[in-house]
Amino acid sequence: MVYSPLATEILRSSLFGHYRACLKKLNAPYFGNNHTKKWIFAQQSINVASVNCILNIVQKGRNMDNIICRSSGVELERTELTDLLAVMENGHSPFEEAIRTMKVSVCEAFKKSGVLAPVTFVPGTRTLEPNLEVAKAFPNSIAASKNIILSASGTMTEKVSGKRVAVLFSGGPAAGGHNVLVGLKQILGPTNTLMGVKAGPKGLMKGEMFEITDDHVKEIINTGGFDFLGTDRTKIEKADDIDKVRNVCREQNIDAIVIIGGDDSNTNAALLAEKLFHDVKEDGSGVQVIGVPKTIDGDLQIGDDLPISFGFDTATKIYAEKVGNLLRDTASSLKYWHFVRLMGRSASHVTLEVALQTHPTITLISEEVRDRNTTLSEIVDIIALTAIERAKNGLNYGVVLVPEGLIEFIPGFTTMIDDLNDKMTQFKDDLSGKSVREQLFFIYSKLTQGHGELLESLPEAIKFMLMSDRDQHGNLQVSRIETEAMLSHEVKLRIKELDGNVKFEYLNHFFGYEARCGASTLFDSSYTYNLGATAGSLILDGRTGYMASLKDLDKGAKPLGIPIASLLDIEMRKGKPAKVIEKALVKLDSPAFLYLKSRRKLWAEKDLSSSPGPAQFWGPTSRQMPKTVALNRKYNSLDFKFDADE
Ligand code: FBP
Repeated sequence: MVYSPLATEILRSSLFGHYRACLKKLNAPYFGNNHTKKWIFAQQSINVASVNCILNIVQKGRNMDNIICRSSGVELERTELTDLLAVMENGHSPFEEAIRTMKVSVCEAFKKSGVLAPVTFVPGTRTLEPNLEVAKAFPNSIAASKNIILSASGTMTEKVSGKRVAVLFSGGPAAGGHNVLVGLKQILGPTNTLMGVKAGPKGLMKGEMFEITDDHVKEIINTGGFDFLGTDRTKIEKADDIDKVRNVCREQNIDAIVIIGGDDSNTNAALLAEKLFHDVKEDGSGVQVIGVPKTIDGDLQIGDDLPISFGFDTATKIYAEKVGNLLRDTASSLKYWHFVRLMGRSASHVTLEVALQTHPTITLISEEVRDRNTTLSEIVDIIALTAIERAKNGLNYGVVLVPEGLIEFIPGFTTMIDDLNDKMTQFKDDLSGKSVREQLFFIYSKLTQGHGELLESLPEAIKFMLMSDRDQHGNLQVSRIETEAMLSHEVKLRIKELDGNVKFEYLNHFFGYEARCGASTLFDSSYTYNLGATAGSLILDGRTGYMASLKDLDKGAKPLGIPIASLLDIEMRKGKPAKVIEKALVKLDSPAFLYLKSRRKLWAEKDLSSSPGPAQFWGPTSRQMPKTVALNRKYNSLDFKFDADE
């Protein structure tokens, strides 16, 4: 019988010793190593209730062989099937076991006579234009990079060893993060050490880290989420915070840090790279800092040089499956309009991708709403008129996709939210200790006139959400605002006004956290492995202040290093100017948006929806990249290709 790693660990643990001691004390008739081993193996999780249960069984002199004691203390007849089910616990479902053995596609660049090898970098042909104000704050990084994107140039000839590299996740989770660790670990090889930082930037400041081993790699490879290390949204920006990191690097002899995160986290990486450029170690040397582009939102893109952030493909494929199912259901039950809000903070990349995968009745794109100055009542009208028209044709149902960040893009809302953000910062002390209702009452009079009225006119629930806490980066937590509920409610009222005979029933949905940690698609698994290998190569090549990237995802993929400081711009955050990487929004002249625009009238009039089904790991779409990426990068096919032999 094969024991799961957790069961094996339990067998070795002191708890096992504790069991043995208890059983011995009781003179247990069935105590025996092999026998107890089997019993504990079937049980998997140990706590006080289970200890009591085992003691109870033994005290009564019953044969433990046939009894499973679950952690709740419940006794259950043990069978082959219950043993089998127990093996599947803790990340060992047959599916998880199978994906762990799946082959990851490795870029040609990392192969030397068929063996994995780090690459060196040379200045490429693209130079970025930095914000001059920002550049002054990053003298070391800008002088070193000269704002030039680095390009891989053959495998390394010299072997670099003895480096201690710390790696952390930062911000919201995204599928593929674990494979960044795997790619990083394998490219660093056995002569360098990879330390995993627990719980994100906060963990880095506390120096909470442990060595990532080959056994860990076997356990985490190709699995979704960030659960191996955990993450958080702490921003390392104050001098104090940077000092803490500097001390941790000194104490734990860290030579390099890899930050896996989105726009804000990579901004953090740029700042750390600058501040730790030199004089960290006793010999005057610094600590290298490299970023890796992550976020399901897809808003960390730099044209051909960074086609997409990782996690986007997995998340959108999961959402597309669910939206495809709703489109089928609604065409079957013939009675509901589904309002589906999709995660993605500001940019509408997620919504656009899901629309291209499923062809829903109506797709709202925040960037278009802002560009056309479409008001809330105009959006409501568009949906109401479409619903009335479809009802006349016997199609009394549909699906509306609503991007999470829509509310921030509706004219009037954007400036009202900015005003609200500023006033909440300015009157922080006056607001503290007040109930939300009291806070609202206080803030109405502080906002400029039109903004106060707009806020007052909103449904109570939305007002409350707009007053909720901002995240660590000063962003409104748009995932908490139920825009879909506001829209469906308003559309129903409007339809009643326009044509009282039209029946309109709606259901609201929010698809968010369900997809952030989904099983990493083949695209994300391979992309992230190679991003990890690129980050590791940048470190071994002595670089700092770069973000790992890959271009040409349809033809072998080329590793790049993008100077992060050269990407920074100035934005208002928490009412103050801040240096940040500008979020990439959906471009209204991009091929992906134009494709939607060319098809959406038909999708609204007729039912042309498709159900892409679950993200595939073995089927006909398993090797596909996101449609928006293929269209925008003008690739000829949807298939990704990292490994030239595939
Ligand atoms: P990141 O940019 O950090 O990857 O996070 C993106 C996101 O998934 C957004 O789509 C969403 O608005 C947000 O996280 C929700 O975050 P949380 O509830 O974890 O603060």
